[in-house]
Amino acid sequence: MNTCVVGLQWGDEGKGKIADILSESADYVVRYSGGANAGHSVVRSSDEEAFALHLLPSGILRENVQCVITNGVVLDAEILLGEIDGLAKRDIKVGENLKISGRAHLVMDYHKKQDQLSEEALGKAKIGTTIRGIGPCYGDKIARSTAIRVADLLHLDLLKEKLERIVNIKNTYFNALYNDTDPLDAAVLFEKCQQWAERLGPMILDSTELLHRALDENKSMLFEGAQGTLLDLDHGTFPFVTSSNSSAVGLAAATGIPSSAVERFLGIAKAYTSRVGAGPFPTEQDNETGNLIREKGHEYGTTTGRPRRCGWFDAVSVGYSIKIGGINEIALLHVDTLSGMKELKICTAYKYKGETLTFFPAEADVLENVECVYETLPGFDEDLSGMTSFEQLPTNAQYYVKALEKILETPIKIIGVGPGRHQTLFR
Ligand code: GDP
Ligand code: IMO
Ligand code: MG
Repeated sequence: MNTCVVGLQWGDEGKGKIADILSESADYVVRYSGGANAGHSVVRSSDEEAFALHLLPSGILRENVQCVITNGVVLDAEILLGEIDGLAKRDIKVGENLKISGRAHLVMDYHKKQDQLSEEALGKAKIGTTIRGIGPCYGDKIARSTAIRVADLLHLDLLKEKLERIVNIKNTYFNALYNDTDPLDAAVLFEKCQQWAERLGPMILDSTELLHRALDENKSMLFEGAQGTLLDLDHGTFPFVTSSNSSAVGLAAATGIPSSAVERFLGIAKAYTSRVGAGPFPTEQDNETGNLIREKGHEYGTTTGRPRRCGWFDAVSVGYSIKIGGINEIALLHVDTLSGMKELKICTAYKYKGETLTFFPAEADVLENVECVYETLPGFDEDLSGMTSFEQLPTNAQYYVKALEKILETPIKIIGVGPGRHQTLFR
């Protein structure tokens, strides 16, 4: 069976944890969108440091799993190689088990610089990006003439010329727009490319062909989404989104595999909501409740270390994510984090200018000004972290899960009661 794991909120739902668990029975684990803006934590056991993966598919921690990075990804080769070296120190080998699409785009130093300059210039209007050069790299992909793809590393002579032309354009642009007087040197960037080519060259191929061969052989594939549906460029809280189709709709374009080949679209959600960066967040609790969730759930960014904004579960936005993503199962994580709350709230509708909205509105400005309609449920106090079955959960925790399932009209098949592999309950 082929499965796509996709975030239903604003990212950091626990996709890495679930992808790691499901990769045990997968032949292929495929990372198809975003770049090093992602941070997927995997905790194999409590006596070992967590793994923070930015570009490598979570299946990389298992032997006999073929990992693939497809065309939809914007690849920061420096970060990828750093990750590979980090794993080597922990005796996890990356070699034949990683393949990278030649169609993926390369994140260059000028993309990161552009991300930073643009965010600084925006001031209060900034998006709050991860400064990983994601938007500028996807921007060059759309622009075409200033893009560099992974396959260009296989043609260094041509790449050298291309880089000189592009770096010249970037330096002129940075100077004109931001008064930048510290131009990038094409020769330095080319040297980096030579090193990347040497190490990554053997991994580069046509991932579309590879995955179609796997499909023909009935191999089981796990597609590991990055970010979340509400950060999707087309369907999220624009402009406070990332620059790719990070919802399930992005899968086909980012892999060349039709979504009809995927039987299970597994949506990942936290039992509450978190968000990093700017943008509307109707159920945000910028108060004691939000602080409690942040501290208890260790809600600090895996990629940037920024404190995450926290709030109640929003069934309007998650219901929307389920609809547009064709989600047929849910994994609800961090149920343990809600322990100790006297009561639990679920947002079931928004009020806007006297009107009740049950469908997620398209405009950030409307979302910024909605009032949430909450259903209030009783809380629970027990420590869930050692519980091993759904039936063992306190009645009120079970009640909360069942209430969400009813509101979302989608089965909640997996429940998280801690960060570790084994702190996962299957129903
Ligand atoms: P991703 O980007 O979707 O992979 O999520 P992140 O890894 O960025 O953030 C999720 C965080 O929650 C990580 O620190 C996980 O180890 C942790 N986590 C995942 N599931 C659970 C859970 O059920 N309970 C608790 N307490 N932590 C969890
Ligand atoms: P994972 O895969 C949470 C957010 C950034 C910012 C917006 C745009 O770990 O869930 P970008 O750098 O992409 O241009 O930033 O998107 N963002 C994420 N938030 N988890 C992520 O990935 C994110 N990737 C990007 O914080 O608000
Ligand atoms: Mg993350």
